[in-house]
Amino acid sequence: MKFFLDTADIGQIEEAASWGAIAGVTTNPTLYARTGGKLADFNNHIARICAVVDGPVSAEVTAEDRAGMVEQAKEVAALADNVVVKIPTTVEGLAATHELYKLGIPVNMTLCFSVPQALLAARAGARYVSPFIGRFDDISEDGLSQVEDIVTALGNYDFGHEIEVIAASVRSAHHVTQCALMGADIATVPFDVLKKMVAHPLTDRGIASFNADWEKVTQA
Ligand code: E4P
Repeated sequence: MKFFLDTADIGQIEEAASWGAIAGVTTNPTLYARTGGKLADFNNHIARICAVVDGPVSAEVTAEDRAGMVEQAKEVAALADNVVVKIPTTVEGLAATHELYKLGIPVNMTLCFSVPQALLAARAGARYVSPFIGRFDDISEDGLSQVEDIVTALGNYDFGHEIEVIAASVRSAHHVTQCALMGADIATVPFDVLKKMVAHPLTDRGIASFNADWEKVTQA
């Protein structure tokens, strides 16, 4: 499983990149808004992320019609070689994705909540499809089993191009474990979840006891 960082915060991206832990980044309008960024700085911000990360960086369109999506996608894709355009899984999104597929611009189809949506994204030419776990759980559905079903369904067919499942809206290290066991290609995780993935109380306890014993050695 590969890990993407789900943030637009350049400080977090630089830190996670220094761990050798991340293979890409996903952003969305909310994550960019959280940085305090303004519209005029958006392209520059995405270009800066692309320079830090050695891997795909998803930048989301905000237009809701296919022509607008394609226009925004072309603009953002021109910022760097590693830009992936993030497009919601709607009728207009599918049409835009298919257009961009023909132009060789990679698309991450986002806000995916069902197997039929994922199959259609794959048929339209999406390079990535992002089922959301946490937001599905939020409406009392089972986000993890949705990811499992999507991984299984996409694995049943050859779409004639590469497509990877990005488990998104990840809220815990447990989500990551389950997605890895079901064979999701990628988990995109917020920085706080990435930190929780490293942490284990037995690791901390082990360090404390080794240090206590080493103290005895150095005082002998
Ligand atoms: C994925 O690409 C999205 O940016 C993200 O995972 C959304 O997560 P949230 O539901 O925690 O906002």
